[in-house]
Amino acid sequence: MSPLRAIIGLSVATVAVANPVDKVRLQARQNASSPCAQVSAAIAAQNPQPGVSSPTVPAQLAYDCITSVPLNKSAASDLIDNIVPYIRWQSTTTFLKDPPEEYEEKIQPAIDVWGGLEEIQSKVENESYTNEFEFGFNLYELLQQTHDGHFVYVPDVVGSIFNWARPMPLVSVSEDGKELPKPYVYPDILAASFGNASFAPSAIAKINGENADEWLENWSQYGSLQDRDALYNNVFYNLAAVSIGSVSTTIGTFAGSGRGRWVYPGATTELEFENGTTVTYTNFARVLVPFDDITDGQSLYNTYFITPKPTETEPPTPSNTTTATTSATTAAASTPAPGYPPPVYRESHNLIGGYYLEDDYSDIAVLSVPSFVGIDGAQADFQAVAQNFLAAAKAAGKKKLIVDVSANGGGTILLGYDLYKQLFPEGIGHAAADRFRAHESTDLIGQKYSELSADYPRQLVDPAANETLYEIISNVVAYVFNYRSSLDVNDENFSSWEDEYGPVEVHGDNFTNLIRWNLSDVLTPFNSGGVYVHGYGNLTNFTQPFAAEDIVVVSDGYCASTCTIFSELMRQRGGVKYISLGGRAEEGITQAVGGVKGTNNFGWDYIQYLAQLTFLLSDEEEGEFYNTTELGDYWSNLVFDRAATGVTPNVNFRDGYRDGSDYQTPLQFVYEPADCRILYTKEMTYDVPAIWKAVADSAWGETDWCVAGGLNGGYNKRDSKREMTWQDKALSKRMKEWKRSLSVGDYPLDIYTDLSKLEINARGFMAP
Ligand SMILES: *[C@@H]1O[C@H](CO)[C@@H](O)[C@H](O)[C@H]1NC(C)=O
Ligand SMILES: *[C@@H]1O[C@H](CO)[C@@H](O)[C@H](O)[C@H]1NC(C)=O
Ligand SMILES: *[C@@H]1O[C@H](CO)[C@@H](O)[C@H](O)[C@H]1NC(C)=O
Ligand SMILES: *[C@@H]1O[C@H](CO)[C@@H](O)[C@H](O)[C@H]1NC(C)=O
Ligand SMILES: *[C@@H]1O[C@H](CO)[C@@H](O)[C@H](O)[C@H]1NC(C)=O
Ligand SMILES: *[C@@H]1O[C@H](CO)[C@@H](O)[C@H](O)[C@H]1NC(C)=O
Ligand SMILES: *[C@@H]1O[C@H](CO)[C@@H](O)[C@H](O)[C@H]1NC(C)=O
Ligand SMILES: *[C@@H]1O[C@H](CO)[C@@H](O)[C@H](O)[C@H]1NC(C)=O
Ligand SMILES: *[C@@H]1O[C@H](CO)[C@@H](O)[C@H](O)[C@H]1NC(C)=O
Ligand SMILES: *[C@@H]1O[C@H](CO)[C@@H](O)[C@H](O)[C@H]1NC(C)=O
Ligand SMILES: *[C@@H]1O[C@H](CO)[C@@H](O)[C@H](O)[C@H]1NC(C)=O
Ligand SMILES: *[C@@H]1O[C@H](CO)[C@@H](O)[C@H](O)[C@H]1NC(C)=O
Repeated sequence: MSPLRAIIGLSVATVAVANPVDKVRLQARQNASSPCAQVSAAIAAQNPQPGVSSPTVPAQLAYDCITSVPLNKSAASDLIDNIVPYIRWQSTTTFLKDPPEEYEEKIQPAIDVWGGLEEIQSKVENESYTNEFEFGFNLYELLQQTHDGHFVYVPDVVGSIFNWARPMPLVSVSEDGKELPKPYVYPDILAASFGNASFAPSAIAKINGENADEWLENWSQYGSLQDRDALYNNVFYNLAAVSIGSVSTTIGTFAGSGRGRWVYPGATTELEFENGTTVTYTNFARVLVPFDDITDGQSLYNTYFITPKPTETEPPTPSNTTTATTSATTAAASTPAPGYPPPVYRESHNLIGGYYLEDDYSDIAVLSVPSFVGIDGAQADFQAVAQNFLAAAKAAGKKKLIVDVSANGGGTILLGYDLYKQLFPEGIGHAAADRFRAHESTDLIGQKYSELSADYPRQLVDPAANETLYEIISNVVAYVFNYRSSLDVNDENFSSWEDEYGPVEVHGDNFTNLIRWNLSDVLTPFNSGGVYVHGYGNLTNFTQPFAAEDIVVVSDGYCASTCTIFSELMRQRGGVKYISLGGRAEEGITQAVGGVKGTNNFGWDYIQYLAQLTFLLSDEEEGEFYNTTELGDYWSNLVFDRAATGVTPNVNFRDGYRDGSDYQTPLQFVYEPADCRILYTKEMTYDVPAIWKAVADSAWGETDWCVAGGLNGGYNKRDSKREMTWQDKALSKRMKEWKRSLSVGDYPLDIYTDLSKLEINARGFMAP
């Protein structure tokens, strides 16, 4: 646990005014004029209770406080120096600086990360920054502007003290599914839909005096995704995100979730509606740390930003990647999923769920997959839900399958492969090959891991029989730095580390040779929390449940990381069509896969662990040599001490290159329109089956909701007039009861992104 997290854990109502000393302190704060002292007093006045939501203060006051923290020039300079070794692992810097023309035109502008870092360093040196926040935000923004969701560093001053928010989430909907969408205040839509409004909701025409669409598009650019329509969707309330709770972007960036939590929204937000009404909301900040003895900006610095942190003596150990999963039972849903109907099967964190539609749609099965993250060892449950649901759907005579990957930021890499292989058991197990940067650190680690692994068998061992052996097999022998773990682009083994490492020069940078996961290798599951992929090993006795033309995938564009690996397999290998939802108020097709397409992220703590383990595996003399190389650059904990609590710094480690291409452009820089675009309607913002029915209609029915592209051409019509079974009739009754039971209160408006409890051990995940 980082000391900062420990402090937060102890925020037990320490501000209750119990004794005279406290009273004097409180008065001092109330008397004081410094903004940070006023924050302190405001919190004390709220008398916050432990375990209850964070206290809040007006956004302006929080901003005045955080910008009153003076810049510590030497500490800022040290931080940048210490970041450099980790940025070397980021795979795309030369592509970002000089991207393909189509990427620049349709996706994002070029950005020079190394140049930007130098500029920040010289601005520190020449004292251009007037305070610590200005520096920290500049640093945060440099990586954010790469729009690579795997590439993130959030300095403490940006993310540890305050998270910003606006007091109302929005949605963007089309009046009839054909007209371009307009933004609305979400509670207005809910109130009107559930009969709680005396007015007709009016669209937002202007925000802070500017055209609302343009203002929102500008705001959306603070998000993590690369695709502009996906970024636009991410501004708004999203039921799929809400269903997986605070480990997602929940109520949208406008309202302060996802990446919106780190951008100062101004003191107020003024909304002008089409009906002429104007409303001004006061923005706020959630206060994430105790402010008991904080009197001004400097004391805030002294309390939270001084390094080294007092108690951190041991190097951080990354989460245990080898933990085998336990129970495989499908528990009853424990996380509420507002807007979702009763499930047939549902993983208890709503990572995956199977549903049937009713009446005219009773031939349709839906697999909703908002996450591939194996939270709390949920990988086995995840696989079991998919397997059981697909079998049940077939047994129940379902003819068509919709896969909904809305809000899916990825997770456990092999779960992405596995879901594809459950749908296409005979399908080729890859659609791309990977590369990572070839530089001194990766070379030395690879040499060491490969050399050491020669002495060990490539087989499973019982941890109870020999713990040491188990640790070496699972953490060294099984990993990508042992050349025996990967296959080459022809699915052959490499003959040596040099054979894997290369390097090959691509776009002005050095990379390893192309590699692939060896899905039949017994040790591969160690890389992925114990996932055995269907179609390999003893999981080969499966038949394809649905023909490709009876499957369609729908996405809100957030699809990132492992979700993009899954999508590449589904589209390129499975031949399945993709539908994109929502998007900007512009005509035309949009992308369905709008998040980072890098195929593996590495936490910086994991990089540090890899480097330090290399020393541990070596003798004194070798260690002395390593200390003269790049591997000697990972001893300091400064980057972790100065990172925002609960937000692991990350790089994109592996790039995916599409099979059949010339392997010169990583998928991250490839634009790919969806096959059809469907707009959100009001109903779809509180009733998820409304989305699925529009998808079913457009893919296999009579009504085409596609505003661009279309599917009807190649797809079979479905038989909507089939005889209803007693199960169908029972479902129809249940769905009506469910719809009647919905009410305004089901839809939480204050569920914010919080990763502090998330242990990500899977590394194909874009953190929100
Ligand atoms: C705060 O102000 C009050 C009223 O001006 C004064 O009586 C008191 O001594 C001050 N307290 C402190 C701790 O400065
Ligand atoms: C400080 O350095 C930055 C980046 O090199 C430069 O743009 C800026 O003009 C410099 N400011 C001063 C006051 O020298
Ligand atoms: C909405 O209306 C229903 C039915 O009239 C009522 O029971 C409920 O309390 C109202 N909810 C709110 C939040 O006003
Ligand atoms: C105008 O629309 C807004 C937003 O839906 C609503 O809050 C307001 O009550 C409406 N005003 C009138 C006069 O109907
Ligand atoms: C939004 O617009 C403002 C004003 O033009 C600009 O300063 C800011 O950089 C823009 N933000 C983004 C994320 O593009
Ligand atoms: C600047 O940071 C260093 C390292 O954390 C610390 O030792 C020093 O006290 C800080 N100086 C100020 C003025 O905050
Ligand atoms: C990792 O998890 C395994 C299986 O639960 C356990 O045996 C092992 O001790 C753990 N290793 C570490 C370093 O925590
Ligand atoms: C456990 O494995 C290690 C590494 O192979 C070996 O050195 C050691 O002798 C083994 N211990 C036992 C009790 O077999
Ligand atoms: C790539 O590696 C080769 C061989 O190590 C080296 O000569 C060359 O300078 C490197 N190129 C780049 C762009 O780093
Ligand atoms: C399949 O193989 C895995 C790994 O060897 C093993 O853990 C599992 O029990 C096997 N399952 C069956 C049904 O044999
Ligand atoms: C494979 O599946 C078929 C049909 O479900 C079953 O009859 C057969 O016993 C299975 N074979 C094995 C080896 O599990
Ligand atoms: C390498 O450098 C680190 C940090 O200076 C030091 O703690 C460690 O003892 C050195 N290791 C060797 C083998 O010299």
